[in-house]
Amino acid sequence: MPEKLLEGKVALITGGSRGIGRAISEMYAAHGARVVINYSAAADKSFGDPVKDVLRIIQQRYGDVAHAYEADIAQLDKHQAMIDDVLAAFGRLDILVNNVGICPFVPLHQLTPELYDQTFAVNIRGPTFLTQKAVQAMLQNPPNEYGLRGSIINIGSISGKNTGGNLQHHYCQTKAAMHAFTATLAQNYGPSGIRANTIAPGVVFTDINKEIFLQSPQKELDAMLRAIPLRRGASPEDIAGTAVFLGCDYVSRYVTGALIDVSGGLHVVVAGDELEN
Ligand SMILES: NC(=O)c1ccc[n+]([C@@H]2O[C@H](COP(=O)([O-])OP(=O)(O)OC[C@H]3O[C@@H](n4cnc5c(N)ncnc54)[C@H](OP(=O)(O)O)[C@@H]3O)[C@@H](O)[C@H]2O)c1
Repeated sequence: MPEKLLEGKVALITGGSRGIGRAISEMYAAHGARVVINYSAAADKSFGDPVKDVLRIIQQRYGDVAHAYEADIAQLDKHQAMIDDVLAAFGRLDILVNNVGICPFVPLHQLTPELYDQTFAVNIRGPTFLTQKAVQAMLQNPPNEYGLRGSIINIGSISGKNTGGNLQHHYCQTKAAMHAFTATLAQNYGPSGIRANTIAPGVVFTDINKEIFLQSPQKELDAMLRAIPLRRGASPEDIAGTAVFLGCDYVSRYVTGALIDVSGGLHVVVAGDELEN
């Protein structure tokens, strides 16, 4: 067993400045990876300067193993330059974490074609074409002792399976598409030594849902958390460990095409279950 699970690996983490992506960036650096942290030019400055913070923390704890790259994932013409930057900085690309996602909460009657298209552009169209470029870079890696060249980790959601809310018609569709994309990637690139897997988180407390939770009655939030078999929502770090597992060939070398629910068990709950326990 390697002392650090991701020693020698180079990872590109999209949306790595906040939330789940940030936790993955930090945990990857802790496990010996060098990381390029993508973030958005459109960042809401009310969040301060999150990418600066995460870079400072990683630098202090683990040294010069990370840098940031600003690119809106929806803009396909930015992708090749970002991959080139990873290769220039660290010489190779082993792991792509397609973490970026937006979830503008609106009911169906308020959903506009523009909002629908934007959600698709960020959540699935952009990641699809970024993956296309990343795969080209991974195919340059010589196969390692397990015959592997790279690992793609897509962040899906239990909302892409069967538990999406009524404000998430568009978002759920993008996540279902992400799950399907993972399957086709695994099938297509497995023979070339590239693994592809999905992590499907449940309820994670991040900026993506802060507003909607603040607006929700406490009674509803309590009921939602009570429905989770592990009886709590997740922190971003609760999700990041699975991304370490999927990035590490030593421990997950034979895992591809998997969809791993990291939801505290929420994905197996049938409505009303919580009332009986
Ligand atoms: N939170 C949950 O409950 C939950 C549950 C299931 C699945 N997920 C999925 O988990 C992933 C991460 O979500 P999160 O909750 O951590 O979100 P978050 O806290 O809102 O963080 C979003 C991150 O994505 C970046 N970003 C947003 N739009 C971007 C764009 N167009 N191009 C590049 N970067 C962009 C942001 O960068 P800036 O700082 O520059 O804005 C930020 O780093 C998403 O795919 C989400 O759908 C979340």
